[in-house]
Amino acid sequence: MPRSAPGATPRRYLMCEPTHYTVSYEINPWMDPTRATDTQRAVDQWRRLRDVYLELGHAVETIEPLEGLPDMVYAANGATVYGGVVYSARFRYPQRGPEGPAYEKWFADAGFVTHTAEEVNEGEGDMLVVGDVLLAGTGFRTDRAAHDEAARVLGIEVVPMELVDPSFYHLDTALTVLSSDPADPQVAYYPPAFSDASRAELERRFPDALLATSRDAAGLGLNAVSDGENVVVAPAAVDLAEALRERGYRPIPVDTTELLKGGGGAKCCTLEIRTA
Ligand code: ARG
Repeated sequence: MPRSAPGATPRRYLMCEPTHYTVSYEINPWMDPTRATDTQRAVDQWRRLRDVYLELGHAVETIEPLEGLPDMVYAANGATVYGGVVYSARFRYPQRGPEGPAYEKWFADAGFVTHTAEEVNEGEGDMLVVGDVLLAGTGFRTDRAAHDEAARVLGIEVVPMELVDPSFYHLDTALTVLSSDPADPQVAYYPPAFSDASRAELERRFPDALLATSRDAAGLGLNAVSDGENVVVAPAAVDLAEALRERGYRPIPVDTTELLKGGGGAKCCTLEIRTA
């Protein structure tokens, strides 16, 4: 029996304007440094995304973009925040290394308790809170050891998820948290991105999950942001949008194709600040 959207709850997001956005190196299969990028177009799409959140009544905070860090727009990778506690990111590739301390400093300056990661992890790119567990990706970016560190620092049960397709290198490229209500957790995911064991774990935990198609996944449609009712999603993810509508969610298409050249979509640009 398909379940329905639990309803929107107000969110607090951290974002980083893509002032210095470009694709100058290649650390995922979506990136091609020989293809031109249009920074102004990225900024325009990012501003639209921010405005959609504001129109939905969510709070959006911003961090100063730093020159020389073209991927800093992907704020989701900057940290993981749960119960007001911040677990910092420690990036796999040196090109993004300085982003970890930059995001951690933003949180420290804002008065948060922060924990500097010793293990390699890429924040909410691989660590998704669903109800009272943390689904934690591994395989391409985040080390398995970081899962234990996250569990310790954040005081949350961690469920490891093994990613097997390099195009879906972060958990948030393959799975969307639709409802994080502990009484009614709901997700959408793209099954081929996961190992057999992880897929079995997802089926066990979320028997009513919404399954995305290869058409949805092709435009990083799973990289969507839900507030429990409104789901900001890539316009190309037409099957996902239809399935969401059937369950009482409201898909809101927002074009992030310029940011897709770096391998990210709406969720990558959005770090959720969970204080409760
Ligand atoms: N170019 C970035 C990288 O490869 C994209 C990050 C996308 N972010 C995300 N949360 N999936 O690291």
